[in-house]
Amino acid sequence: LRLGVLASGNGSNFSAILAAIAAGQLRAEVTVVVYNNPTAKVAERAAAAGIPAVLLDHRAYETRVAMDQAIVAVLRSHRVDWVIMAGWMRRVTQRLIDAFPQKILNIHPSLLPSFPGLAAVEQALTAGVKITGCTVHVVELEVDSGPIIMQAAVPVLPDDSAEKLQARIQIQEHRIFSLAIALAAQQAQKLAQQSESISIR
Ligand code: GRF
Repeated sequence: LRLGVLASGNGSNFSAILAAIAAGQLRAEVTVVVYNNPTAKVAERAAAAGIPAVLLDHRAYETRVAMDQAIVAVLRSHRVDWVIMAGWMRRVTQRLIDAFPQKILNIHPSLLPSFPGLAAVEQALTAGVKITGCTVHVVELEVDSGPIIMQAAVPVLPDDSAEKLQARIQIQEHRIFSLAIALAAQQAQKLAQQSESISIR
């Protein structure tokens, strides 16, 4: 599997994916990281791992489609087959989705469909739910929607702050993201094999 990672910030999920690959838990390689924010720490993480990181600053593009076109060009040039959104804080357009149909995965810090969008951890605290968690899903046009691949539950504790809860959710994110990538890739391969055997009959 050739993975292209899209990230806007810290990149701890990116590092967790690299760790899973290094540990032999995920048979894949990250061929490129695209980031949109010049100060994103993910760029340092990529440099330390010897993985090319390309800055595509969204402020340099007039439209979201133009930005996505640039992203697709970078991903293609690194022969990416799965796109992994690991803290990617930009809305995507059909341009990106059509370039990698069913092969873009996102991680979100709630049990979707609860609490999509920004500040999901705060949303969960405000709602007073006793269990929240994280979700890996296939990306569709609407933010934080699309078929769910994997989820992990995290209890909300009585004295929780957003920071404490987020830290516990991240532990689960780091655990399930690589598992979900492997599962999604496996399912896609199975589907491809099935459609092949149908077409030769
Ligand atoms: C994660 O909590 C993820 O769910 C959300 O953005 C955060 C990224 O964290 N989409 P990191 O940059 O991987 O540390």
